[in-house]
Amino acid sequence: MVEPWEHAEVVTRLGARSGVPVTVAVHSRALGPAAGGIRFTTYPTWQDGLADALRLARGMTYKNAVAGLPYGGGKSVIAVPSSVPVTPALRSAALTDLAELIATFDGTYLGGPDIGTAPADMLFMRSFTRHVFCLPESAGGTGSSSGPTATGVLAALRAGATAVFGSPSVAGKRIVVVGMGSVGTLVAQALSAAGASVVASDIDPARAAGYEWISPADAYSEPADVLVPAAVGGVIGPGVQAPLVVGPANNQLRGDEVADQLAAAGVVWVPDFVASAGGVIYTLSRESDGLDGEAALAKVETIEDTVTAILSAATTNGTTPLAEALTLAERRLGTLALAD
Ligand code: PHE
Repeated sequence: MVEPWEHAEVVTRLGARSGVPVTVAVHSRALGPAAGGIRFTTYPTWQDGLADALRLARGMTYKNAVAGLPYGGGKSVIAVPSSVPVTPALRSAALTDLAELIATFDGTYLGGPDIGTAPADMLFMRSFTRHVFCLPESAGGTGSSSGPTATGVLAALRAGATAVFGSPSVAGKRIVVVGMGSVGTLVAQALSAAGASVVASDIDPARAAGYEWISPADAYSEPADVLVPAAVGGVIGPGVQAPLVVGPANNQLRGDEVADQLAAAGVVWVPDFVASAGGVIYTLSRESDGLDGEAALAKVETIEDTVTAILSAATTNGTTPLAEALTLAERRLGTLALAD
């Protein structure tokens, strides 16, 4: 089966300095320059890295569209073979290779941090291209976007809890947080402070210190009130035992059909590209659109209203939250007529 070509532009090249493949995938520029993070991680093959970039770029198109941002969707991937150790020298060489590739896009793709990269890396890449965002505060940027991303997840969670439990309060709720990275840790702390009983999971159990721990293999099917996926994607199947799933991980579902299976099982899944938009909303609103911190955070908080509208439309129309979120995105993208 030949999949239809959905993306606007995709370039993969072998990095001249690093010898590892670097990819920029632009899914859509319908709403503006494509914006999305730079993932630096290991893959079994370079094709897996490319496939990840394609999926993640598509997710960014929907994320930015639903968030009401004037940006399209794109993503970069630096795909290190699992057998190659990532030394500091390899890191700088690969970041330089990717920065040079981003420069060739001449502002039609804007890169930011993602798994495996941080604001300091964006500053490093600035020597080669202006088209990276989310620089450290010491360099005049907005710094880590983890805080605003967590704020957005909590806003989405309030809307989800209101729809499922009749109240935004998480007090007394058993909440499984999978992935104690920069965002997962902040979400777990906030939920715990709000009276939830947090069960934390991470491939590194030390990162879940202070919480009840569960192995990642069991976490996604653990009975709980809320499941918060905050690690890698492709992990959510029909076996979820929590009535509400909402978290910052990108591309959470094993496939789009899982959205139907979850809905049929009575599980409310808040689409990842809606719940995880806090970082990109905050950072781009400030760095590109000149909003101050307060105004940018207020924009992040609107994720609560967006999720409320999506969940209520799904109930009213007998559809899924995914279908309603895609409809919202497609309306903004002007592609509704083309959608099936
Ligand atoms: N990695 C972010 C995402 O998936 C993109 C981003 C980069 C957001 C930089 C904020 C700042 O949405």
